[in-house]
Amino acid sequence: MRTQVAIVGAGPAGLLLGALLHRAGVDAVIVERRSADYVLSRIRAGVLEQTTADLLDEAGVGARMHAEGLPHGGIELSFGGTRHRIDIQQLTGGKHVTVYGQTEVTRDLMHAREVDGLTTVYEAEGVSVHDFDGARPRVRYQHGGVWHEIECDFIAGCDGFHGVCRASVPTAAIQLFERVYPFAWLGLLSETPPVREELIYTRHERGFALCSMRSPTRSRYYLQCSLDDKVADWSDDAFWDELRHRLDPEAAESLVTGPSIEKSIAPLRSFVAEPMRFGCLFLAGDAAHIVPPTGAKGLNLAASDVGLLARAFAEFYAGSEQGIATYSERCLRRVWKAERFSWWFTSLMHQFPDNNAFGQRMQQAELAYLVGSVAASTVLAENYVGLPLEH
Ligand code: APR
Ligand code: PHB
Repeated sequence: MRTQVAIVGAGPAGLLLGALLHRAGVDAVIVERRSADYVLSRIRAGVLEQTTADLLDEAGVGARMHAEGLPHGGIELSFGGTRHRIDIQQLTGGKHVTVYGQTEVTRDLMHAREVDGLTTVYEAEGVSVHDFDGARPRVRYQHGGVWHEIECDFIAGCDGFHGVCRASVPTAAIQLFERVYPFAWLGLLSETPPVREELIYTRHERGFALCSMRSPTRSRYYLQCSLDDKVADWSDDAFWDELRHRLDPEAAESLVTGPSIEKSIAPLRSFVAEPMRFGCLFLAGDAAHIVPPTGAKGLNLAASDVGLLARAFAEFYAGSEQGIATYSERCLRRVWKAERFSWWFTSLMHQFPDNNAFGQRMQQAELAYLVGSVAASTVLAENYVGLPLEH
């Protein structure tokens, strides 16, 4: 098989890249190791920056997001038993985010790819990438017991943190930056109405908590938990009791509980690989960087990467190599600013084992300053809605 761009990974990055390339008239094939159902079963964050919403529109898959997504102009910070609203829309001159689950983004992209009759190979085994710094870049995989090879001009590594693409780069050619956090997030999905209309980020001495949602009838909650915790350690009742402990009294009173329809534990890390290009291999999304979910930047960074990459490939076929030559540096400037924001927000809102009494007072003082200062709240607001894309 031959194509212009071989995309490894059918998560949000790979699917959105494929959709944008199709719109630009560039041929691409996606190779995914899991089944479509498995990809859709993964529950992830659901806060879209305007730049991400715009890219979904550009890819022709924004209709359901506009119909079902929830525009949010603010968030609430809860600490010391009270909540403080950050008026994001007012502080950013009218910008907002859209609450729309990543699962739905993935579903919309998968549907569009199927309607367009584009090739996605699911349940591909033994995927490997070859000669990406040579003259004949290729992707090999086994499907249904038969080995296949895709000859291509470019390989897009959209295969996430545990993928094969970054792992195929010689260690001398790549520099890794990482911070692993000493706690995890326990997430619960329930068919219950959200506590409030907007998200509530809570700092509590027992640990961080987040109240989010997927729709007016479906809620998503997170509790900071130990790295040693297992989902089986947390009954639904134990989850709801702990969440009530961490919420302010009014929010705790408003909490509607119900049976969990999904429960999972995820560790938190900050991670960046530099550069993001190796000859004909380009990394995008979680394959190149990971952020702690506190700032809801993971999906948005994946989208901005592939927005730049799709434009760069289209420009190449139109005769300019400027886009592919500057892809890595342009992505990394935005990635590192999102890494900083996500690290800062995580450090401010979570309990750290080595945080002594002084560290507790520093977190409390920063929160008190944050909600009392227009300047400080503006910094939070403009990072939360997403920094401008650099074209
Ligand atoms: N071969 C083929 N596919 C692979 C391989 C491989 N060797 N390894 C991983 N994959 C697939 C995974 O099964 C997954 O479907 O690549 C896809 C990567 O998708 P994500 O991990 O979702 O990463 P990305 O598309 O960059 O999206 C980032 O997803 O994980 C969340 O929080 C993250 O919101 C962020 C977003
Ligand atoms: C979610 O809804 O899953 C979510 C929202 C905001 C975050 C993280 C997760 O910061």
